[in-house]
Amino acid sequence: MNSYNPLRFAALILFIFTGCKTLPPTPTGLVAEKAMVVSAREEASKIGVEILKKGGNAFDAMIATDMALVVAYPFAGNLGGGGFMVYRKADGTTGALDYREKAPLSAKKDMYLDSLGNVIPNMSTVGATAVGVPGTVAGMIAVHEKFGSLPLKEILAPVIALAKNGIVVTEKQAEHFADYREKILLVNGGITSFPIDAKTGDILKYPALAETMQRIADNGRDGFYKGETGKTLAAFIQKKGGYVTEEDLSKYEAKWRTPITFSYKDLKIISMSPPSSGGITLNQIFSMMEPYKVSKYGHNSEKEIQLFTEAARRAYADRNYYLGDPDFVDIPREILLSENYLKKRMESFSFRQATKSSDIKEGNVQMAESMETTHYSIVDSEGNAVSVTTTLNGAYGSKLYSDELGFFLNNEMDDFSAKAGVPNMFGLIGAEANSIAPEKRMLSSMTPTLVEKDNTLWMVVGTPGGSTIITAVAQTILNAYEFNMSMQASVDAPRFHHQWLPDVVMFEPQGFSAKLKENLKSKGYIINEDRTPIIGKVNAIRVLPDGNLEGGADRRGDDTAVGF
Ligand code: DON
Repeated sequence: MNSYNPLRFAALILFIFTGCKTLPPTPTGLVAEKAMVVSAREEASKIGVEILKKGGNAFDAMIATDMALVVAYPFAGNLGGGGFMVYRKADGTTGALDYREKAPLSAKKDMYLDSLGNVIPNMSTVGATAVGVPGTVAGMIAVHEKFGSLPLKEILAPVIALAKNGIVVTEKQAEHFADYREKILLVNGGITSFPIDAKTGDILKYPALAETMQRIADNGRDGFYKGETGKTLAAFIQKKGGYVTEEDLSKYEAKWRTPITFSYKDLKIISMSPPSSGGITLNQIFSMMEPYKVSKYGHNSEKEIQLFTEAARRAYADRNYYLGDPDFVDIPREILLSENYLKKRMESFSFRQATKSSDIKEGNVQMAESMETTHYSIVDSEGNAVSVTTTLNGAYGSKLYSDELGFFLNNEMDDFSAKAGVPNMFGLIGAEANSIAPEKRMLSSMTPTLVEKDNTLWMVVGTPGGSTIITAVAQTILNAYEFNMSMQASVDAPRFHHQWLPDVVMFEPQGFSAKLKENLKSKGYIINEDRTPIIGKVNAIRVLPDGNLEGGADRRGDDTAVGF
């Protein structure tokens, strides 16, 4: 209990020598002394912590947590999807891993268009045609090879046991099953071994998944991309009309990337680089807000909402036009992030009136309520931190489920721009930079992020939420930094979102008064009146001034912090 904790020591020194003008907030989330995992399910957080207690590091815990989410949270936890990880080691070095899905070798720019050039409904979102080449297992193995300290078999043992012994269905999970029952049945020909009829309290065992995981434990990367799993998977996707082949699987590789790192006042923010738009867009939003005295405006005040919305409007417009897979397109990164450029972008901003997003496509853009991705945050007792967001894209991805292998396949191909100017399922309008090409990675909004204050780890944060991910991460950081909220309160606070097009400011159901909305409307803001979706499901960890860790597990889900 009293052993040396480098995070605690650094935080204490900082606290003593810098002095604190504002008293730090009283923690309201779980507080732990040494290490913590915050994820979408208690079982997964517990398994991550079990690995940490065994002497594993944050990277070992990442693999265990990730794989446990496949079992306990098939809504988004996945073998058939992909994700991004941003890390900061205890010595301050940072890096990022891209295990995003990619387009199959046979993919074509117009593969989702009919002979008249119109987007074919559902083709990039539902069933085998929507499936991109999965990256998750390559990601886990790359992490293990570079940073793992325990043997893979030992890390995966509790996960395989979980799949064999079963998980208990939560109320929210039973609701998810019921909500997606018909769609899953439809895609899988009316019959599936996935337990869509399970009720709250039922125990679910996944023997086929346990075997698939055992092959990964035994053979690493090849245990998934080649051999029995690779063959079965490719044959299954093709039988169902999809494009992923054995060659696609065997060629898949995760890529180490340099994260996007920038400062906001006295914070240093480290976030995901392309093919995620998260880091660049976050950087643009924060840099456009930086000249303003945000804390003075008050949390979720009219002025804060205006400033944030206008920064987001400008940043998302750039996101949609300029960003794509950096291995395929030249991103004018230096310009997009330069002080001059961002200052110019904000010259047209005034608190008196909303700026109009051009080309608004009225009425035909549905903003789906989207929590289907999942994020987890980990800090170990050495002070290593990982921030991971992983996804199948939609809930249960393409809904295509392999009975033989025991997992869902993604519908990530929809994150490409099937046709310039036509919105995808998140209402995001893409351009040439994100058009489809063989082996290209589709642009993402996933924003796993780490924040340093005075060169010390301060926060690990991320969320699901499709296009709302970036704004939810930004608001969580602002809540803690500008408005001095505890980690848990920062996560739980009501959120709003704007993404350039559609030209609508979205508010969560609670926390925004009618008067506030009326005032904004009188300034020309268009507000979502009928649908007030939940925005994001943030899981975060904050290093407190005394070095303890405070978890922020989003009240919006079954998310749970576990620590010791
Ligand atoms: O990578 C992306 O941006 C999306 N595929 C994320 C999807 C998502 O967050 C779904 N719902 N929360």
